[in-house]
Amino acid sequence: MKKLIKKLNSFKGKANVLVILGSGLNEFINETDIVESFSLSKILGIKTDTSIGHNGNIHLVKLAKKYIYILEGRKHYYENPSDKTMREIIQAFAYIGIETLVVTNAAGGMNPEFKPGDIMMIDDHINMLGRNPLVGENNNDLGPRFVDMSVAYDKNYRKLIDKIAKELTIDLKHGIYVSYLGPSYETPAEIKAFRLLGGDAVGMSTVPEVIVARHAGIKVLGISIITNMASGISKEKLSHDDVLKTSKKALSKFSDLLINFLKQL
Ligand code: HPA
Repeated sequence: MKKLIKKLNSFKGKANVLVILGSGLNEFINETDIVESFSLSKILGIKTDTSIGHNGNIHLVKLAKKYIYILEGRKHYYENPSDKTMREIIQAFAYIGIETLVVTNAAGGMNPEFKPGDIMMIDDHINMLGRNPLVGENNNDLGPRFVDMSVAYDKNYRKLIDKIAKELTIDLKHGIYVSYLGPSYETPAEIKAFRLLGGDAVGMSTVPEVIVARHAGIKVLGISIITNMASGISKEKLSHDDVLKTSKKALSKFSDLLINFLKQL
């Protein structure tokens, strides 16, 4: 982690927001002015491109005169179950003092009122990964052993996004994100069960990063792009290609929302 902190500190500007871009959302970068970038795989000696659509670069960008860090892609638990990489990455950003984490992802819609291309603000999550990134030694200098998750997704950020969506006439959905380990998609029976538990969307990421951020007191905003209806809800078979296509289609709506949020932060 030291190497990563050193590299982040060598950036020519300092930001207090980190945005993680999910599948198909990499082109958000084009909306910004890139100041400097480096490859995470080189710094951490890991492969970050094992899932198509994720290329693992860290950028310092300028947007509306503000500096922002952008992580293009992420590591998922399905890539290597014992991997603590996302914990290390988020904690490195915590050590350099970020205050806000914006997590974005592609997700399957379980709520029948949703449709592919919708944007859902994450109000809360259900961790079905069967793991927690904070297992193991606690970083006492960052946060407590037992982490309060009663308001994991910042209330004021949610209010702000609601206001912006209204102004932009974006039909923003709200819901509960369920994290599934993957890499197989869910079965229809699993989706029925997650829906009964209260889930609205399902995906394979985000929750670990949010837990690590909350441990360190970083405030979180979570946005899901509903790229498909979850297994069994529609008759269509799921494919990552379709996920990427729909995600890209929702990009301009998503960018408008995010840019306005970052401006008003
Ligand atoms: N399930 C899990 N992860 C996903 C999905 C899904 O339906 N769509 C996009 N990511």
